[in-house]
Amino acid sequence: MINNLHRWLIFRLVMVWLVLSLVIGALVQYLGHTRLDDHVIKMAKTETSKYTSEFIAYLQSPSGSALSLFNRTTNALIGKDNLIVVEFYDATSRKITEAIKPAAAEIEKRLPKHGSEFIHTEEVVCEKLTMNQDIYLRVFVPVLDGRGAKIGYLEGIYHAPEEIVAQNRSHTLWSLILVVVIIFVTSLALYPLIIRLNRRLLDYSHILALTNIGMLKVLGSAIAKRDSDTNVHNFRVTLYSVRLGESLRLPDSAMQGLIKGAFLHDVGKIAIPDAILLKAGKLTDEEFETMKNHVGHGGDILSSYDWLSDADAVVRCHHERFDGSGYPAGLRGEEIPLNARIFAVADVFDALTSKRPYKEAFGVEISVGIIRDNRGSHFDPAIADLFLEQVEVLYRDICREDEPFLHSKLEGCIKRYFR
Ligand SMILES: [Fe+2]
Repeated sequence: MINNLHRWLIFRLVMVWLVLSLVIGALVQYLGHTRLDDHVIKMAKTETSKYTSEFIAYLQSPSGSALSLFNRTTNALIGKDNLIVVEFYDATSRKITEAIKPAAAEIEKRLPKHGSEFIHTEEVVCEKLTMNQDIYLRVFVPVLDGRGAKIGYLEGIYHAPEEIVAQNRSHTLWSLILVVVIIFVTSLALYPLIIRLNRRLLDYSHILALTNIGMLKVLGSAIAKRDSDTNVHNFRVTLYSVRLGESLRLPDSAMQGLIKGAFLHDVGKIAIPDAILLKAGKLTDEEFETMKNHVGHGGDILSSYDWLSDADAVVRCHHERFDGSGYPAGLRGEEIPLNARIFAVADVFDALTSKRPYKEAFGVEISVGIIRDNRGSHFDPAIADLFLEQVEVLYRDICREDEPFLHSKLEGCIKRYFR
């Protein structure tokens, strides 16, 4: 169980680590790209703004000599910065001139083309382009006169400096590594903490289980004291029931209900008057009707505690008969809960093989004969057959043993199913 817990926890923490690393890693990557884009756009805008004042001066006094002067100025500027192409247009979109870096014409041809959607824009527009891992920006800058009227625009292609791109990628990569390491270390730190908390929880659960089982024993002893002054009947019927339940491969949860129900099956007898409960002779019809109420009283007693709710099937239905002639509800066949059908065989066999105030103990042969005769009427035939297949072993291992031995066997069952 502990190993399972370690495996379970390691698997969960690794999954959490992977998922958080992926999600936060993607976020870091996105923020890195956004930061680079913002930085490059800012640089591109700064560089293109250097050209606008000279262009406005030319547009306000256009002439051949002004154009020559403007060309010299732009060619000088473009040699120093990261713009590789700058084209200048008047308000009618007629190209006035351009400045271009050597070899930039080839790059311009290979970059994706644009339509005329930016021509009429009144704001600076930057369009990001990538080619061979290089980042380019196509920049449109409207040129306005002193009154705010658009008198032309310039279009440039800006090549983001490689060192800036490399620096940003390195920064993003280190941020990613840092995030992954921090999540990993946090997961490692959580591991012993969760294990310790789980151990404490298991300790508390164990104490609670011991308390519940202690209460189960006390309640069982209280019934036995009233009825027969011995726990041995409760021990035997519980052990018979456990053997049958195991033969039927019941899940642990059903076994727990079977054990609790078998141990407390007659808890309702606490509410039956001594004159009836302890009567040596045969009960009258009226007394028997009163005695029948013990199943209902038992169910009512258990209903006050959730931990005992799975014992209810045995307590309320252990006197039902397979053919529908039992009590209190007259259930038949598989309407009777499986645990109650199992217990009915165990209870009757133990009653037959035990001495009671009104009868001597029957031998095993007679008891087996009665069980066999009542398969299909009183008992579920499949369960009766299963019991009869192993009755000799059960009789030897359980029926003939004394109370301390049976008690230790029962402790073993409790450890097995209430661990
Ligand atoms: Fe009973």
